[in-house]
Amino acid sequence: MKSLPANNPEWLTKKIIKKGGTISFYDYMNLVLNDPNNGYYGSGKSNLGSKGDFVTSPSMSDDFAFLLSKQIEEWLIQIKRKLIFDEKISLLEFGAGDGSLMSGIFHYFLVNNKNILKNVCFIIIEPNSGMIKKQQKKLEKYLNLGFDILWESLDDLGDKTLNGIILANEVLDAFPVERIINLKDKIYRQGVSIDKESGRLFFEEMPMTKKLENSIAFAQEKLDINIPPKDAPEGWSTEWHIDNKSWLKAIYKKINNGILLVIDYAKEAKKYYSLSNSNGTLISYKNNKIVKNVFDSPGNCDLTSHVCIETLIYDSEILGFETVGIVKQGEALLSLGLAERLFEIQNELKNDISKALSRRESLLRLVDPICLGDFKWFVFSKFKNKKTKINSSCIR
Ligand SMILES: C[S@@+](CC[C@H](N)C(=O)[O-])C[C@H]1O[C@@H](n2cnc3c(N)ncnc32)[C@H](O)[C@@H]1O
Repeated sequence: MKSLPANNPEWLTKKIIKKGGTISFYDYMNLVLNDPNNGYYGSGKSNLGSKGDFVTSPSMSDDFAFLLSKQIEEWLIQIKRKLIFDEKISLLEFGAGDGSLMSGIFHYFLVNNKNILKNVCFIIIEPNSGMIKKQQKKLEKYLNLGFDILWESLDDLGDKTLNGIILANEVLDAFPVERIINLKDKIYRQGVSIDKESGRLFFEEMPMTKKLENSIAFAQEKLDINIPPKDAPEGWSTEWHIDNKSWLKAIYKKINNGILLVIDYAKEAKKYYSLSNSNGTLISYKNNKIVKNVFDSPGNCDLTSHVCIETLIYDSEILGFETVGIVKQGEALLSLGLAERLFEIQNELKNDISKALSRRESLLRLVDPICLGDFKWFVFSKFKNKKTKINSSCIR
């Protein structure tokens, strides 16, 4: 990526100048997404959904939460039965966005299996206070019904370990990433600088850090990938998810017995770090359109990147997680009863054709292979008794 024109707000200029005029891309992404006053998520100005800046599965269709809840119910029943706990089972959601998924889960259980709710403790881990406010508003009706939802960090949970289910839908793609670039057959870390005259942002090379070098070297050695790929041209660049490992480690430490479900845009390593993918997967969205320049309107757009399938699996398994399975979202939702759901919608809304069509369209977008249907569901488990096996209907 070359230097690009930008629309750089004063708050960001001040932060970059304070750090000496150049910050790493990782710090840039962290600021524009998570700065408490001006970041896209930090300030809560993010707007999810088909009328907002970008869609996530739960913000687009309530039927996503319905179908996923069927999987959650199956897991909850098995965990309760096989592991016979006296204490409550936790249902923990990372990065709950506008609260649509959690709200849909409550709705599902209130309608379909009210009894199970007595055994479940609901936790949301959300670092951005702007988003917590949105989630609290969306979930107000369930809070008013007397359900406990804890907004905590993993650290707040203290030494207590959890048994249960952990969800992370489109959360890893919002983690700040490092950018690296191939220049004269050497890898550099990419930073972000400000042009003193125009005030515009541009990419600038920085030396690699030991942490970044080691993380890439480790993955190359263990996964037999080349970064950059052989014969990579000048300027070949990509991103590196430097925080995934520590995130997985913190979860692994915290759960005693349970399932971790990660759902995200994901790419195989051989495609991610290939000659044809010469610019990584970083993408910015506003008003449901791609913003070509990742420096455009910082703090007002979503900024996201795909996860690498093999590195996520490797980082999980090396900690001790077992990979139960990986499945495309389209297949997972079909296995959980998407076809029956379509039929139910038709019957339920037979007197309101336009509503039925719109529900049907949203539901089909969840499985569209060129859209959300290509998302990957990663199901990992950790059970103290290694012989414990759990059935997951989402994986056929
Ligand atoms: C792309 S949105 C996804 C929202 C929601 N899961 C959905 O699917 O609609 C990313 C969410 O992750 C949150 N987030 C960002 N960094 C996080 C972190 N380190 N831990 C937990 N949540 C995080 C953001 O504030 C935001 O709520």
